[in-house]
Amino acid sequence: MQSKKTFDKKPIILMGALNSECGLITDALTDRESFIYGDCKFTEGYLDGYPVVTVMSLMGQVNAAFATTLVIGIYNPKCIIFNGTAGAHDPQLHQGDIILGENIVTTRGYFTPQKAEGEGLGGPDEFEYFGCEMIIEGEDKSVKYFQSDENLLKIAEKIPCHTGKLRRGTVLSGDFWNREIDRLKFYRSSFGSDCEEMEGFPIAQICAKLDCPFLLIRIISNSEYYPEELFDEIFGVKCQEYTIEVMREMIRETV
Ligand code: 5AD
Repeated sequence: MQSKKTFDKKPIILMGALNSECGLITDALTDRESFIYGDCKFTEGYLDGYPVVTVMSLMGQVNAAFATTLVIGIYNPKCIIFNGTAGAHDPQLHQGDIILGENIVTTRGYFTPQKAEGEGLGGPDEFEYFGCEMIIEGEDKSVKYFQSDENLLKIAEKIPCHTGKLRRGTVLSGDFWNREIDRLKFYRSSFGSDCEEMEGFPIAQICAKLDCPFLLIRIISNSEYYPEELFDEIFGVKCQEYTIEVMREMIRETV
């Protein structure tokens, strides 16, 4: 895959899993060109005159990893922002609250307990979580969490949130949608998670591998603690209304 445009500056990449999480920002780009590669939708254009590429990755960790690897290889971006919806782990959070993913954790890599035939299945509270393997400064490490870029977090914190509370937090990322309160409580007490979603960890991992600044922005779209707070994609659109202002601030601070 090749870029369509020749940008004179490193573009900002805005990623979302669904059209409801990147369509509004895509439509705000001027001089835009869209194309599909490997079922991801890429749109190149400009926001306030600055190069931006939006990417609709589709849901889940592998789709997110695929899109991230491509965009870093092709565009050598200034940074990657992923925005989208999440389910609450912190009972204080409600629909419309925004969590900036200061820490991003996963349940992806684990050892189960050893059990003989007939002893049944162990639960997640019996697993030993090891995260993912990385070589850091020549040493083989097991990494359990990643972080959003501190400078990008500080820029995002300057933008007021009109849909609820705004704070930094810990995002748990995996190919799951948990609806059991005891499991949510277990993850919150073991991983310190404020909310859960399906893309943040692999993007953060690849950005760390390839040294690309990353910012994760998640809006609460559902909470099992409040049965009336069911998932609604409108929160993906509301998240973009916040994220586009974060992007504008980044652009103001760059130019
Ligand atoms: N659990 C997991 N993923 C969620 N998402 C929103 N709420 C949740 C939840 N409770 C996000 C995921 C995925 C899509 C289903 O919405 O990141 O992209």
